[in-house]
Amino acid sequence: MSTELDPSTQMKKQVGEAAAAMVQSGSIVGLGTGSTAAFMIQALGDRLRTGDLKDIRGITTSFQGEVLARECNIPLSTLNEVDCIDIAIDGADEVDPQKNLIKGGGAAHTQEKLVAAFAKQFIVIVDSSKLVEKLNLGFLLPVEVLPRALNPVSKTIEKLGGKPQLRMAVKKSGPVVTDQGNLILDVKFENGIDNPAELEKTLNNIPGVLENGLFVGLTDLVLVGEVVDGKPVVRQI
Ligand code: A5P
Repeated sequence: MSTELDPSTQMKKQVGEAAAAMVQSGSIVGLGTGSTAAFMIQALGDRLRTGDLKDIRGITTSFQGEVLARECNIPLSTLNEVDCIDIAIDGADEVDPQKNLIKGGGAAHTQEKLVAAFAKQFIVIVDSSKLVEKLNLGFLLPVEVLPRALNPVSKTIEKLGGKPQLRMAVKKSGPVVTDQGNLILDVKFENGIDNPAELEKTLNNIPGVLENGLFVGLTDLVLVGEVVDGKPVVRQI
C-alpha cells in the first residue's frame, strides 16, 4: 500500500488492482474511464510487462482510456473487430442496492454503456462513497445530447420533472464536448429516481438524446474498496 495516497485514492487503487487480477490471458477486455478505471488499466499494463498476463486486447471507452492504455502498452482493438468482449471493468458515480448505476461523470457513458452491454461479464469498481440507497439524490444524471437538440431535449426533460443543466468545461470556455462531439445535460430529479429502468428508456426515447448515464441490469459484480481499521480492503457485491 502506498502511504502517500489519501484514503479515497487508496480504495480506488485497491479495487482497480483487484479487478485487473481477475482478467485472464487471451481475453478481450473492456477498459473503462475515470480515475478508478485508470488504476485498473495501469495494473493490467503491469501484469503484461511482467509476463503474468498474455495476449489480451483492450477496447477503450474514451480518449482518456486510449491514451493511458497505449502508455501502458496494452494492445487495442475496436468493437467492430471483435465477436464479443470477455470482461469489461469500469468505475461508477453511484451504485444502488440492485447494482443499477449512474455513470457519466467523465462524460464517457455512451461508449461505456456500449462496451458494458457487449461484455459477457461487467465488473464495476468503486470506493465505498459511491454506494447509495437511491440513485440521483446526490449525483446528477448525465444525458448526452446532440448540440442542435439542446433546447427541445431540455424542455422535454423538464416536462418529465427533471432539472437539466448544461455541463460547462473547466479550463476551456463553454460547454463540455463529448468524445462524440455532443453536449451533456446533468439532470436532477427532486426526489431521486424511483424507477431507473423506466427512466432509462424514457430518456433515450427523446429525439436528440444519444444516451443517458443510467446502467440498469448490466452489472454482474461490484468490487467495493473500503478502509477498515486503517487498511484498504475489497469486498464483493
Ligand atoms: C466516466 O464517464 C464515468 O462513467 C466514470 O466511470 C465515473 O465517473 C467514475 O469515475 P471515477 O472512478 O473517477 O470516480
